[in-house]
Amino acid sequence: MSVLTIDREGEIAVAILDNPPVNAISAEVRCALWQAVETLDADPGIRAVVLVCAGRSFIAGADVKEFGQPPVAPHLPDLVARIEAAAKPWTAAIHGAALGGGLEIALGCRFRLIDAEARVGFPEVGLGIIPGASGTVRTPRLAGIEAAVEMVTSGKPVPAPEALRLGLVDAMVTGDLRGAAVSYAASMTCGPLPEPVSARPVETRPDSYWSERRAQLEKAGEAAPLRALEAVRRATEVSFDEAMAFERATFLALRDSPEAAALRHVFFAERAALRPAALKGVAPRGIASVGVVGGGTMGAGIAAALAMAGIPVTLIERDAEAAARAHAAVSRIFEGAAARGKLTGAEAGALSGRLVCTDDYAALGHVDLAIEAVFEDLAVKRAVFDDLARVCRPDAILATNTSYLDPRRLAEGVPAPERLIGLHFFSPAHVMKLLEIVPLPGTAPEVLATAFDLARRLGKMPVRAGICEGFIGNRILKRYRAAAEDLLAEGVPVAAVDAAMRGFGFRMGPFEAQDLGGLDIAFLQREAARAEGRDVPETLADILVRAGRKGQKTGGGWYDYPEGGRMPVASDAVARLLADRIAGGEVPAPDAIAERLVGAMADEGATILAEGIADSAAEIDLVEIHGYGFPRSKGGPMHWTGRG
Ligand code: 3HC
Ligand code: NAI
Repeated sequence: MSVLTIDREGEIAVAILDNPPVNAISAEVRCALWQAVETLDADPGIRAVVLVCAGRSFIAGADVKEFGQPPVAPHLPDLVARIEAAAKPWTAAIHGAALGGGLEIALGCRFRLIDAEARVGFPEVGLGIIPGASGTVRTPRLAGIEAAVEMVTSGKPVPAPEALRLGLVDAMVTGDLRGAAVSYAASMTCGPLPEPVSARPVETRPDSYWSERRAQLEKAGEAAPLRALEAVRRATEVSFDEAMAFERATFLALRDSPEAAALRHVFFAERAALRPAALKGVAPRGIASVGVVGGGTMGAGIAAALAMAGIPVTLIERDAEAAARAHAAVSRIFEGAAARGKLTGAEAGALSGRLVCTDDYAALGHVDLAIEAVFEDLAVKRAVFDDLARVCRPDAILATNTSYLDPRRLAEGVPAPERLIGLHFFSPAHVMKLLEIVPLPGTAPEVLATAFDLARRLGKMPVRAGICEGFIGNRILKRYRAAAEDLLAEGVPVAAVDAAMRGFGFRMGPFEAQDLGGLDIAFLQREAARAEGRDVPETLADILVRAGRKGQKTGGGWYDYPEGGRMPVASDAVARLLADRIAGGEVPAPDAIAERLVGAMADEGATILAEGIADSAAEIDLVEIHGYGFPRSKGGPMHWTGRG
């Protein structure tokens, strides 16, 4: 079946594009649209054409799957030009989203109508590219320079009312979009037509305007937004054709860059992770209310994430005082979200008012899911699971947020083990996107599907992890830190390691990150393992913790923090403490340091994969990107080292 069919409504042809799931512009779509222009131009019975799309969206852009292959004619810029030059004027009827190449096709149409709920935008920078079929050249002619710059450099879509205000579309429709577009096309094509967008004049701006915008974008350090800015500037300074040539050359060069390949890898990995193939056809249960046990760092963040996603939460703490503290902690998160514009003040107040914090476990009698986030202590957690088994409905899902303990041991003896699962959130839980989902051997598929569904509702990135110490992320973190300590032992300064990893794209290096989070948590975990008689070699971090250096909170860890400040200063005390464990040696170049540490992460990733702890290399990459600050534009350790 063809991706394009043509209906006729009197003298108006309705071209219906149907290329599921989101009408991405593949070579087949380009050919079909080109052919339709030719056929309808030659048809004397047709006066105008309306382009509508089947399914949930108008055209979501070029088909990203084709980006790794040689381009095939007709090329998208030529198609947009062909639509614009059609003898029978085209009207785009936009529902869902018109993104990237989809919006470019709409800009080639003589008219654009938009459903009131739809949005338009240029998300290309998120894929490491710029619009490649006139987005940077036609948009400033239609919507002005400021709107064009904002759209192509931020990648943020614009909702329908804003698109109308900016002049990107001609009319907004509520209800029957196709019917409205046919009537609109019929009436607007009776008289003289407006100029095609390519023929419209464009304003200019002084050098200072461009240098200010450039300075703002340079702070983020990404190539694509800067190149997109440059392309809009060209569009205001040279002819339409010259600007098109510049945009196309820039698009093609970026498309073939390693960054763009990495970002495409992440794009597809994220979408696959949200809908794991193994759960196809398994219906999740509805989750109407959740209990959280423990309102410390993690419990408060988890409760806030749930509440902000519209899910009523009951939080249990040890006593009334701790419950009041937890209430205040979660309310502070709501207030912070309001301060950043994520909630209104009234919404923050309402969420806080609805949040129930108590020391009475009986309050969990109605919940569909309970998540424990109490101290990382086997006995404490087992007692909590006993309480949950007693008070919760027998079918309520019971989850643990443990970082290192074996979930099988925590819930031993709890009736109906098919409802048990690990939900490993990351700190701060209302911010970090990663959610490791850890099924137990008896976990029912619908419970697993429910966990993935909950992750989607919370806006999290779910990754299934098998049971092992540290699951996927913390296990790789341990290897990464060990490799970083190896470098120190070879004589590389702490600051050189951190600087190399910042240069690679992490916000922080491994040592400054430990100082911020505290060295004691991992230390206590190693000590607990030693107490169980396991062979855990003494790390350099152990030496620091034993000397009272637990990080910023104690005024020193890997660095000194004079006068309680946050500025790390190289520490003579650390040099003395570690003197007999450190050899003198040559300091490798930053790239070599990064290569070694990322290589260590990928080595551990490969072992994790071989053991079946992770399902794919791509999911390991997602864990690192969404939980540990691995730079997205490098695609994750597996992609970067060519292992996934
Ligand atoms: N190319 C190929 N496949 C695409 C695609 C694209 N542009 N956009 C989405 N898909 C696929 C996804 O991989 C997914 O496939 P799957 O079902 O096999 O996993 C499926 O479509 C559905 O995608 P989502 O899960 O994201 O669906 P949603 O309904 O949540 O979101 C959307 C729909 C808002 C359209 C979202 O898919 C989206 O943002 N897509 C990307 C849009 C984009 O980046 N466009 C620019 C492309 S580059 C370009 O156009 C260059 C041009 O200027 C020359
Ligand atoms: P925390 O010490 O900040 O909070 C634990 C809370 O549990 C305290 O408020 C305490 O009063 C409460 N609590 C203890 N026993 C209780 C009981 N019987 N009933 C009700 N409340 C009880 O600890 P944190 O950091 O929030 O960690 C909690 C869990 O989350 C641990 O299992 C930890 O491994 C895990 N985790 C921690 C992360 C982190 O970065 N802090 C990241 C991911 C998981």
